[in-house]
Amino acid sequence: MIAWDWQAPGRLIVGPGSLSRLGELLTEERVLLVTSQGWRRRGIVGQVCGLLPGVEVAAFDEVEPNPDIDALDAVLPMLREARAALILAVGGGSAIDTAKGLAVALPAPGWGFDAHFRGGKKLPKHGPLPILAVPTTAGTGAEVTPFATIWDKAARQKHSLQSDLLIPRGVILDAELTLGLPRATTIASGLDALSHAFEALWNVNASNLSDGFALQALRLLFRHLPMVVEQPRALAGRAAMLEASLLAGMAIAQTRTALVHSMSYPLTAVLGVPHGLACGAFLAGVLAYNVEADDGRIARAAQALGFGDIAGLRRALDDLLARLGLADALAAAGVSRATVEPLAGQMINPARAGNNLRSADMADVRRLLSASLG
Ligand SMILES: [Fe+2]
Repeated sequence: MIAWDWQAPGRLIVGPGSLSRLGELLTEERVLLVTSQGWRRRGIVGQVCGLLPGVEVAAFDEVEPNPDIDALDAVLPMLREARAALILAVGGGSAIDTAKGLAVALPAPGWGFDAHFRGGKKLPKHGPLPILAVPTTAGTGAEVTPFATIWDKAARQKHSLQSDLLIPRGVILDAELTLGLPRATTIASGLDALSHAFEALWNVNASNLSDGFALQALRLLFRHLPMVVEQPRALAGRAAMLEASLLAGMAIAQTRTALVHSMSYPLTAVLGVPHGLACGAFLAGVLAYNVEADDGRIARAAQALGFGDIAGLRRALDDLLARLGLADALAAAGVSRATVEPLAGQMINPARAGNNLRSADMADVRRLLSASLG
């Protein structure tokens, strides 16, 4: 692609222990901290209050995996009473997506997610509250993207909010916060970052800018993802994973995601499969599919990554997925041909599949399912 535009992210502060610099990112006097109950138990509320003397900090600690329309609407009246001027997300992709949703909804009395996603009500006229993001998983890249994924759990559907104004104003990547990540979360979120990097490469919207971010993310991921799974307390590896996730997020912030994500959504919406794991299910299959229509970019990427040629890249991806135990993780999450094939009709999401280097119709999706699920 020759013509492109890209909104750069906000200020990025990177390094182990960098949460201590949180105060540099805000002057607001009222802040809503969005986090999970797990992080509250680990003391994040007191820690943030200690880092922001003189700031009134309200905490919302009920972030659930995959934020839901009705659950969010239910807490809006209570959270509006905090009259926050800024939202601080500390947590994984769901915390950051929740923060983005709240940033839109809180300053707009009467506006809700049900009215927007189910009723067609437009986004509020005035912009969202500013957001700061401290990701504690390495995967979604939500700290640098303009997207928030919001789920309709009742209807088992995925929705998106999208606006450049949702790109966080400030980001802290503190690898110390990721040292305690459970193995399964490390794998699933790492697979999400890996999927973002690949999907930015085999994307009709790719540019030199997104390619640069995606290739560097892949270099880091091939080396460090298996290492952090095997050595979860290795700080350098955890730091590299956070950077890889950020870089892959920057890449998809420009390109959007593609066929892997499109096919993954029903696995999460209907079967409850963690997002990154659902993407991982189709990564090798979609690589093979896209290779058949390669215009040279995948071959160049294989070379740039040091795998020699496309066959080398495919072997490296297969080895990585095997080392992560993907097949067993998918089986444990209930992913099989029998559970997934009935979802095939929901797997072409034009806003995502339409970005793929090679277009796909239902027959292609069915072939990909056979190839991916055996
Ligand atoms: Fe993703």
